[in-house]
Amino acid sequence: MHPMLNIAVRAARNAGKVILRACEDLSKVEAEQKGTNDFVTNVDKDAEAVIRDTILKAYPNHAIVGEELGHTEGSDADYLWVIDPLDGTTNFIKDIPHFAVSIALKVKGRVEQAVVFDPIRGELFTASRGQGAQLNSKRLRVSKANELTGTVLATGFPFKQKHHMDAYTEAFKALFIHTADIRRAGSAALDMAYVAAGRIDGFFEIGLKPWDTAAGELLVKEAGGMITDFAGGANYNRSGNIICGSPKLCQAIVKEIRPVLTEALLK
Ligand code: IPD
Ligand code: CA
Ligand code: CA
Ligand code: CA
Repeated sequence: MHPMLNIAVRAARNAGKVILRACEDLSKVEAEQKGTNDFVTNVDKDAEAVIRDTILKAYPNHAIVGEELGHTEGSDADYLWVIDPLDGTTNFIKDIPHFAVSIALKVKGRVEQAVVFDPIRGELFTASRGQGAQLNSKRLRVSKANELTGTVLATGFPFKQKHHMDAYTEAFKALFIHTADIRRAGSAALDMAYVAAGRIDGFFEIGLKPWDTAAGELLVKEAGGMITDFAGGANYNRSGNIICGSPKLCQAIVKEIRPVLTEALLK
C-alpha cells in the first residue's frame, strides 16, 4: 500500500473509533445547525481533529481542507488532503447506521489516494491512482449496466437548496420511469463507494462539496467508472452537480435529465 494511503487509512480508522464511541450514547452528542437543515455535532469536529492530527504527524507540511475545521495552509501546498470526517451527519444524529469517513489526498490538484470508511460495517474502500479500487483488499469494478433499464440508482435530495426541487423532481421522474428503483441512503461518500463496488449502478446529486466527492471520485474512476456534471462535461467539481457510473450509464443519465434541467444546473 502507498505510504500516504496507509496514513489516510489510519486516520479514517481513528476517526471511526471516535464516531463509534459516540454512538454508544447519542444523548451526549451536541448538534447545532450551520444553516437550514444542515447539522454539525461535536463528534464531526472531534473526528476531523483526529484525522488532522494523524495526517500532520506524518506530513507536517501538507495542506488540509476539512468540512468542519476549514483550510490549513501547509508549506508544501502541492499536497492537499480533503476531509469529510462524518459523511451522513443526519443519519448519525438519528441513529441510522449509515455514514462514513471520507479522506482524499490531492497532489497538484489531482486525487491520488482515497479512503471511504464505514465504521459500522467495518468496510474500508480504498484507491490509489493507477492501482485500482478495493473493498477490504478485494478489487472493485463498477456495474456493467450501460442502459437505465433494470438499474438501481442512488441519489441525494437537494434538502439544503430547495429552490432546485422542481428541476430535481423532473430529473428524478425522467430517470425513475426507466430504472428498477432509486435509493436515498444519506451519505454521498458511501453512494459513490457503492457505485465503485457495483452495488449501485449509478448516482446523481445536486450541489455536493469537494469533501463529499473527492475520495468517491477516485474510487469510481479506479473501478472503471466515470464522473460527469449534468451536461456530461467535467465541471462537476465547480458545480458539485454529479453523475457517476459506467461511462455508458453516465451518458444514458445525461440523455434523460439534460432536457428537463434548468440552465443553472447544466453549467
Ligand atoms: C451530506 C451527505 C448527504 C448528501 C448531502 C451531504 P454531510 O454530507 O453526503 O448524503 O445528500 O448533500 O451534504 O453533511 O452529512 O457530511
Ligand atoms: Ca455537513
Ligand atoms: Ca458530506
Ligand atoms: Ca460531514
